[in-house]
Amino acid sequence: MLSGKNILLGITGGIAAYKTTFLVRLLIKAGANVKVVLTSSASSFVSPLTLATLSKNPALTDFVNEEDGSISWNNHVDMGLWADLMIIAPATANTLSKMAHGTCDNLLLATYLSAKCPVYFAPAMDLDMYKHPSTKATFEKLISFGNTMIPAESGELASGLHGEGRMAEPESIMKFLEEDLAKGLSLSGKSVLITAGPTHEAIDPVRFLGNRSTGKMGFELAKRAADLGAKVFLVAGPTDLQVQHNNIELVPVTSAQQMYEACHEHYSKVDVAISAAAVADYRPKTVFKEKMKKKEGDLVIELERNPDILLSLGEKKKNQFLVGFALESENELENAKGKLQRKNLDAIVLNSLKDAGAGFGGNTNKISFIDKNLNIKTFDLKTKLEVASDIWEEIISRINA
Ligand code: C5P
Repeated sequence: MLSGKNILLGITGGIAAYKTTFLVRLLIKAGANVKVVLTSSASSFVSPLTLATLSKNPALTDFVNEEDGSISWNNHVDMGLWADLMIIAPATANTLSKMAHGTCDNLLLATYLSAKCPVYFAPAMDLDMYKHPSTKATFEKLISFGNTMIPAESGELASGLHGEGRMAEPESIMKFLEEDLAKGLSLSGKSVLITAGPTHEAIDPVRFLGNRSTGKMGFELAKRAADLGAKVFLVAGPTDLQVQHNNIELVPVTSAQQMYEACHEHYSKVDVAISAAAVADYRPKTVFKEKMKKKEGDLVIELERNPDILLSLGEKKKNQFLVGFALESENELENAKGKLQRKNLDAIVLNSLKDAGAGFGGNTNKISFIDKNLNIKTFDLKTKLEVASDIWEEIISRINA
């Protein structure tokens, strides 16, 4: 959820500031780009050097940098616009009140006012300050501006008193952010099954029948779904591709039979299934236990049919939205429509071998999306990343209709 996001962390002057070193670590581990802005009192509690080292970016406190005789400007507007998300943690009563009233007497506040992104604040103060009507009014005002409060937790406070006011722990802040960001996503709460890549059908321990599929289209579909908040089961045949996303469970398989079994294991749990794999239609009838020796004359390998995974998913379909792929070289539309109906699909993605840049291997694809009512939408040649996004847009508009 936070991977690749630009996150601006604003730290204000409370003892909980020391915990932000852990928060920066967790954000970086989640794949975010992090920049830190501190108030000058925050820098008494936590060292800008530590934060700069952990975030891999300068940690800023002043509008102006004076170093080695040169002066530069820390541009709050650029930083505010850079951010996809701003978190103010710990947020003291003083800074929160200034945010509510538009006061702009330090770099953090100027950056807050410049930011157009969602802003989260995690208050930290003593229990009576937290309960004070003016503090409550500040929270309400900031929430009415569209900011999101990460509520303080209860426990022992720096004053020695017990009660509400401790800044949420870094792990709780991370959980809060991830859950909150997921809420707004169009596939949040949905599960998805995607097949990708080729299958390898063993001839003997060292040889197999395979095809040239790289798995790129299926992997891009999986990444896009995961970015849109879905839980993804990615059943992938042998491929060099790698994927790291908290929402993606990679299920590696080799043969069509294994892919069939993995798909049926997960199918009943999912809302959408997309079959983007190039499944071998046939496998050697006999798999030799030892490496085959060459002999005089020709060799004939007898093949038998593999299960049609997509057809079997169509037969078992309950509420799933089922999508297949058709890679065609002639009578493209007619063949694709035939598959759509025969396999009981909700939609089929057609790519023609006649279109340059479509199909296996490359980074681009050119598709037509055909739904079960035979509405056809044809797209331009695009990168597989863009194609994945188009396909999901078509699916989402239909599952939400
Ligand atoms: O019938 P055809 O193989 O052209 O259909 C292509 C679609 O069926 C693709 O979505 C592919 O992933 C799927 N398929 C399958 N199992 C097979 C063959 C194809 O799931 N054995």
